Amino acid sequence: MKGLILSGGKGTRLYPLTFTSAKQLIPVANKPVLFRVIESIRDAGITDIGIVVGDTAEEIKRAVGRGGRWGVNITYIPQDAPLGLAHAVKISEDFLGDDRFVMFLGDNVIQGGISPLIAQFAESDYNSQIVLTRVEQPEQYGVAVLDDNNRIVKLIEKPKEPPSDLALVGIYMFDANIFKAVNAIKPSWRGELEITDAIQWLVENEYNVYPYVHRGWWIDTGRPGEMLEANSLVLEELTPKIEGYVDRDSEVDSRVTVEKGAEIINSVVRGPAIIGKDTRLVNAYVGPFTSISHHCLLENAEISRSIVLENSQIRNINRRIEDSLIGRNVVLHRSPIRPRAYKFVLGDHSHVGLLGEGGE
Ligand code: G1P
Repeated sequence: MKGLILSGGKGTRLYPLTFTSAKQLIPVANKPVLFRVIESIRDAGITDIGIVVGDTAEEIKRAVGRGGRWGVNITYIPQDAPLGLAHAVKISEDFLGDDRFVMFLGDNVIQGGISPLIAQFAESDYNSQIVLTRVEQPEQYGVAVLDDNNRIVKLIEKPKEPPSDLALVGIYMFDANIFKAVNAIKPSWRGELEITDAIQWLVENEYNVYPYVHRGWWIDTGRPGEMLEANSLVLEELTPKIEGYVDRDSEVDSRVTVEKGAEIINSVVRGPAIIGKDTRLVNAYVGPFTSISHHCLLENAEISRSIVLENSQIRNINRRIEDSLIGRNVVLHRSPIRPRAYKFVLGDHSHVGLLGEGGE
C-alpha cells in the first residue's frame, strides 16, 4: 500500500503567516501538521509516500527531504494548478500504479488511532474506504448520506442544504478503480475535479465503498482559530517531558513539556503547554494550551492559548496575550500608548510596538 499527501494550496485564510511559508508547515504542539500526517501514514506500515506540491514546493521539499528521518521514501508530485483533489489523484497515477493507497490532506489534524484503520484497508476487499465525522456546518464539506444498514446512499460536495451532518474527513482509501472515476467526472461549479464526485461515481457504478465513522476530534486547519483549536487538542495528548532547565523559583506543572536547551527562570508554566528548544522564559507566565517554538524569548510577559513560532521575542508586555498566532522572527515589546486588549494574527518577520499603560 502507498500513501499520497496533498500539500499544495496557497493557505490564503492563514495570511500573513502563509505569505512566506506553506500552511502545512505551521506547527501544532511544535511539530508541523504535515509531519504529523507523515507519521500517521508511517505508523500504518506504509513506506512509499507521494506528496503533491504546488507553489510552496521548494519549502516543503526543504522541510521534509527524502523522508529518511521517518524511515519512509518520499516522492514529490508537482501539481501546476489547484484543480481539485481528484485532479491530484489523476496526476499521481504513475506513482501509485496498481497499489492500494491512502490519501491524506496535509493540513488536517485528526485524533490519534487512525493508523490501524488504514492498515486494515490494505488487507480488505473494499474498493474504497472513506472516513466521516459529524460536524456542525456540513455545508462547508463533502457530505455523505448513509442508509439504515450503514451503506452509502450518496455523496455531495458542499451542499447548500445538507441532507446529513456526516462530513468527509480528509482521509480516503482507494484501489486502482479510482482512476476510472477521476477520468469519468467533470469539474464542479468551482472549476475543480472533486474527489467527492469521484467517490459518488464509484458508488453509482457499484464499487464497494465502505464508510467509517470517526468519533474522536478532527480539525481542518484552514483558519487561525482552527490552528489554535488543533494545538490545544494535540497538546492534551502529548506525553510531557522536561529536558530543559527549570530554576528553583519557577513553577512548571506536570502537563508541561520543556524541550532541550530551554531555560525557565522565575516563571510559571501551566500545562498542557510546550516550551521549545533553546527558548528562554524570564519572569514570564505561560498558560494552558500554548506552544512556544524554538529560540524564542518571553520576558516580563504573560501568554495563554496561543502559538508562537520560532525566533520570536515577547518582552515587557503588561497585558496577557491570548488566542494569538504569532509568526517567525516577530518582536513584540512595550510602547507608550495604551491598548485595551491583545488579539493577534501576526505574520513572519513582523515587528510590533505595543501601547503601554497610562503613557509609560
Ligand atoms: C475538501 C473536500 C471535502 C472535504 C474537505 C475536508 O474540501 O472537497 O469534501 O470534506 O476537504 O477537509 P476543500 O478543502 O477543498 O474545500
